[in-house]
Amino acid sequence: MSRKPIIAGNWKMNKKVHEANELIRELIPLVEETTVECVFCPPYIDLIEAVHLTKDTPIEIGAQNMHWEDHGAFTGEIAGDMLKDIGVKFVIIGHSERRQYNNETDEDVNKKAKKALELDMTPIVCCGETLEQREQGKAQEVVVGQVKKDLANIDDVTKVVVAYEPIWAIGTGKTATNEQADEACGWVRETVREMYGPDAAEKIRIQYGGSVKPDNIVELMAEPNIDGALVGGASLTKDFSDIVNYDKKK
Ligand code: 13P
Repeated sequence: MSRKPIIAGNWKMNKKVHEANELIRELIPLVEETTVECVFCPPYIDLIEAVHLTKDTPIEIGAQNMHWEDHGAFTGEIAGDMLKDIGVKFVIIGHSERRQYNNETDEDVNKKAKKALELDMTPIVCCGETLEQREQGKAQEVVVGQVKKDLANIDDVTKVVVAYEPIWAIGTGKTATNEQADEACGWVRETVREMYGPDAAEKIRIQYGGSVKPDNIVELMAEPNIDGALVGGASLTKDFSDIVNYDKKK
């Protein structure tokens, strides 16, 4: 069974509204022939115009975080319900930077993922180990532990996208080898199999993230357990189109 590849750009805290608009306008004609699911995740403030600009294009828009409540006294937060209302279809949840700087826990991630699904949005749930954990031989234990908690009690797990992002490969220029990336995405798939059965494991899409660039995407995508990429730095210029169009390279 074939899983549709999904390539998403996580812009993190980059691009003012006019810069976001400029990049989106530049990228639209470059990715219009894409055969993969292509998602841009700009900062909140850019979302409304991003949704508007990408209407009638193959590009979908995602947010980088959301709250699990619909409204209320949560100063500084944005509800999933608000994102859905403006046409956002995807949301990154539990990125390692949010776990590190905003103390997000696996329990928070699980609540957010469930809420996103309830709202018919696709959660991109992030997991991944630190360098220290990998060096101690604990990478598998960490990733499996996160996935078990993050994806607990979900009605239809096949609607979730999981992004395996080893923290030591994020923004460092140090990509995991294809074998390391595929092995860890395999741990995620195996955990989904244990939790939800072989059918769910076969259908769920798993991305690799961490220093993905135009010159390593082809080999990463050739790995059996890797169904896409979550791209940080290299999603901030028009060269992102070379990643999205990886399957068109000769
Ligand atoms: P880089 O591609 O900049 O390493 O970032 C990866 C990432 O964190 C995507 O969410």
